[in-house]
Amino acid sequence: MKISILGTGYVGAVTGACFAELGNSVVFVDIDPAKLDLIRTGRSPIFEPGLDELLGKNLKRISATTDTGEAIRETDVTFICVGTPSNPDGSIDLQYIEAASQAIGEVLQQKESWHTVVMKSTVVSGTTTGIVQRTLEEASEKVAFRDFGLASNPEFLREGSALADVFSPDRIVIGAEDPRSREVLERLYSSFDCPKLVCAIPVAEMIKYVSNAFLATKISFANEIGNLCKLMGLDTAEVFEGVGLDARINPAFFRSGIGFGGSCFPKDVRALIAQAEAAGVPPKILSSVVAVNEEQPMRLLDLLKKHIPDLRGKRIGVLGLSFKPDTDDIRESRAIPIVSALLEAGADVIAYDPLAIANFRSLFPDISYASSAAEVLQSDAILLITEWKEFEALDYTGKLVIDGRRLPKAAIGSIYEGVCW
Ligand code: UGA
Repeated sequence: MKISILGTGYVGAVTGACFAELGNSVVFVDIDPAKLDLIRTGRSPIFEPGLDELLGKNLKRISATTDTGEAIRETDVTFICVGTPSNPDGSIDLQYIEAASQAIGEVLQQKESWHTVVMKSTVVSGTTTGIVQRTLEEASEKVAFRDFGLASNPEFLREGSALADVFSPDRIVIGAEDPRSREVLERLYSSFDCPKLVCAIPVAEMIKYVSNAFLATKISFANEIGNLCKLMGLDTAEVFEGVGLDARINPAFFRSGIGFGGSCFPKDVRALIAQAEAAGVPPKILSSVVAVNEEQPMRLLDLLKKHIPDLRGKRIGVLGLSFKPDTDDIRESRAIPIVSALLEAGADVIAYDPLAIANFRSLFPDISYASSAAEVLQSDAILLITEWKEFEALDYTGKLVIDGRRLPKAAIGSIYEGVCW
């Protein structure tokens, strides 16, 4: 199949490379020529293990252009993979989705053959059959579903293991209301033997949000219980090991700590809250999920202050800046509120991360950055923010360690406190 991918950010780059690997020809489209130059030479515009290799291996099936019209004319199906940033009220900003729909619509006007437009970006339920469809119809001046079809095919990729998540998914969700678009997606995924759910487009959109909201809820629940376990002298990990053995509950996403970050959970939960509020049913559970997640990193600070009440002039080492290991992504990283609070309290911060220093430096240019994890150990106290594998190999003997992620090795510190254990 001939596929165009609009947007070469995280979702677009991974999706396009994987479709090429499955034997399709893929045209990447972006307004940023630098990203396209990288793709053309088999290099990924984002950090994701294995993605360079996958692009390099499939170069003969890959092309890249800034010209949306050319890409759409040459392909049968377009995946919209542009960003959906948050508005200040938590709802999502649809300007890039609208611009993409407008650009696609204008080309569809001149296209003779059938074209399927698939929404891959995370958009709240009703967006594709609402504003996207309207924009496409107006721009193309075509009757809905006569010459083009619409579909939704949400992604369930975790940064750091995105390729494995694409090639071995738990399920594939196909939201399609017209038979031709449904058939296009079924053909694209014909080699996969996981469950495939075919449903209405707004249902597919909702499945994506509810999946992320439920996983975020599990984490905040584990953190709330973890805070209680800490006070009771219980090991929360042991408690959740027992809880997770119930097949109805499942052990995943019960790791207590300083909360969730990243480009998805915080933003998606807020967008679902905003949608529910707009619908007149303000959610209680989801609002608490966010509240717990915002308070959780501050607990690490409270534990630190128990041992060093006045942080002014104290050298505080921060280990880990990315929102989780194996990525350079710092979006909504718990390191951000923690470093801000340390600076506000007058601490002298030295931080280290194997990949995320450059990104963090753009937010916090004035803290010190170490060139190795070991250098950070020479501080008055060490805060463990991200569970990078290499932090397990450090010698924490004699150190004051406050652990936000439960690194077993760190417990040998002379003073060791875990946030929920
Ligand atoms: C998440 C989902 O896991 C993917 O299924 C989804 O496709 C993706 O969002 C998305 O919407 O695109 P991701 O943000 O890459 O993926 O990261 P996760 O591995 O889910 O971790 C998110 C955050 O939760 C991290 O900060 C992690 O440290 C935290 N977490 C995770 C916990 O605090 N406890 C846990 O038990 C698990």
